[in-house]
Amino acid sequence: MRLFALLLRVVATLPLSLGTTAQQCSSREDYTARTQAEIDKITQNCTTIAGELGLVDWSGPLTLPNITRINSITLYSGNITSIELPALEYLGSNLLLTDLPSLRRVYLPRLEYIEGLYVDFASDAPELHLPKLTNTSSIYLRGNFSDQSFDSLRRVEKKFDICNAVSCGYYSRMEAYTPMSLSFPVLESVGSFIVAGNVSSLSLPELSTLTCRECDWAALQLKLYGSSRIPVDLPKLSSVNGSLNIRGDIDSISLPSLQEYTRELIITPYEPLNITLPVEKAEDFLFTGNITSIQLPNIKDFTRIHIDSDLDFDCDELWEDLDRTSGPLNESCKEEYFQCSVGVSCYAGRLQTVAVALGLVLGMGFLT
Ligand SMILES: *[C@@H]1O[C@H](CO)[C@@H](O)[C@H](O)[C@H]1NC(C)=O
Ligand SMILES: *[C@@H]1O[C@H](CO)[C@@H](O)[C@H](O)[C@H]1NC(C)=O
Ligand SMILES: *[C@@H]1O[C@H](CO)[C@@H](O)[C@H](O)[C@H]1NC(C)=O
Ligand SMILES: *[C@@H]1O[C@H](CO)[C@@H](O)[C@H](O)[C@H]1NC(C)=O
Ligand SMILES: *[C@@H]1O[C@H](CO)[C@@H](O)[C@H](O)[C@H]1NC(C)=O
Ligand SMILES: *[C@@H]1O[C@H](CO)[C@@H](O)[C@H](O)[C@H]1NC(C)=O
Ligand SMILES: *[C@@H]1O[C@H](CO)[C@@H](O)[C@H](O)[C@H]1NC(C)=O
Ligand SMILES: *[C@@H]1O[C@H](CO)[C@@H](O)[C@H](O)[C@H]1NC(C)=O
Ligand SMILES: *[C@@H]1O[C@H](CO)[C@@H](O)[C@H](O)[C@H]1NC(C)=O
Ligand SMILES: *[C@@H]1O[C@H](CO)[C@@H](O)[C@H](O)[C@H]1NC(C)=O
Repeated sequence: MRLFALLLRVVATLPLSLGTTAQQCSSREDYTARTQAEIDKITQNCTTIAGELGLVDWSGPLTLPNITRINSITLYSGNITSIELPALEYLGSNLLLTDLPSLRRVYLPRLEYIEGLYVDFASDAPELHLPKLTNTSSIYLRGNFSDQSFDSLRRVEKKFDICNAVSCGYYSRMEAYTPMSLSFPVLESVGSFIVAGNVSSLSLPELSTLTCRECDWAALQLKLYGSSRIPVDLPKLSSVNGSLNIRGDIDSISLPSLQEYTRELIITPYEPLNITLPVEKAEDFLFTGNITSIQLPNIKDFTRIHIDSDLDFDCDELWEDLDRTSGPLNESCKEEYFQCSVGVSCYAGRLQTVAVALGLVLGMGFLT
């Protein structure tokens, strides 16, 4: 009986294992190809390319139906239109897809690991499909895309940078025609995270750690410009090794798990916003823009708080609150740790003071 069961299992797995065993393509490591027919021939009886697949003068779509592992794919020249790698699980180095005006589809339905992905879509309504991607070193995404999901992504070791605007610089007032909806249901850890552009929703329910590995200064930069205001809700974010910078059309900010924080926290709402943060220990705070009120009910220790509101903000009330929660504060050196001003007209003149107050590092960060 047991032998029969065993036999059955062997028989059942036999054709499958024949089809799926990793089989290295020929004896060579690296290949170059110009046409799909050449690639089909190279990959006819195999699933793994140990070295590089280089594409030269490539035009039109690329598809590798049976390849599961590949060390690198390099586009040397040409004008690829789509990349379809339905079996690929592992890509050992960076995939660089920039300056490709005809590229509109990148389909990687089984990819679990890629070293780095750099995609710049110039086309209207491009398609990027990465439902199984679990971990990666870096992702850089530019283009006129709208909805984007990273359903399995848990960890981005270094930089994760997404922007759908025409220009993605720090100060540039963004122009982005298509609002994008972003969902990262299991993302836990990122080195530094940048999301910028026209964003209609942002979901990061599990994000807990921003390590700032190889970040310039900001562990988190959100620049959200929408047709409507969006909530910034980071329910599990608790460990941040770098500045947090949140600006844009923000409806609410929720950082309930952030208790201790030893870097700068910068918040600039474009529309009136009441802010409540449960943080206990923090370094520098900078609140600018349309701030209506700030509540820091648990604050015990802080280095500096700087407020420059465009609105009728009650500075005295905040000072009294701070004195109650983290005081007694020394009124005679108030200027050193509490600066509060109100009114749009003062903004430009005070920007310098802000940079000085927050230190050169932060000041330089603004310029990058
Ligand atoms: C992919 O594998 C299938 C099944 O083994 C085979 O029929 C097909 O020819 C292969 N395609 C290529 C491009 O190698
Ligand atoms: C693939 O296998 C077939 C059948 O064994 C053989 O005729 C063909 O030459 C092989 N192709 C390559 C590229 O090894
Ligand atoms: C690629 O295609 C685009 C759009 O068809 C065209 O404008 C561009 O000149 C092409 N570039 C190359 C290098 O062929
Ligand atoms: C981006 O998408 C919008 C709306 O679909 C379209 O009007 C615009 O031309 C697109 N831009 C590019 C560069 O394709
Ligand atoms: C990420 O993927 C690589 C390659 O599969 C693996 O070696 C590494 O352990 C993974 N790291 C994490 C944290 O999942
Ligand atoms: C964002 O997209 C919406 C809908 O297309 C548009 O109305 C709005 O002007 C866009 N916002 C920006 C800043 O481009
Ligand atoms: C914190 O960030 C700095 C760079 O800003 C980096 O050198 C350091 O290794 C990071 N610490 C941890 C624990 O990741
Ligand atoms: C605050 O709101 C006013 C009035 O709508 C606007 O002029 C100003 O630009 C806003 N501030 C910011 C930083 O967006
Ligand atoms: C801010 O809070 C005050 C007092 O609770 C409330 O009256 C006001 O409407 C709030 N403003 C915004 C923009 O939510
Ligand atoms: C407040 O600061 C002033 C100036 O540094 C100092 O002389 C004074 O002793 C301080 N008062 C308290 C209560 O620490």
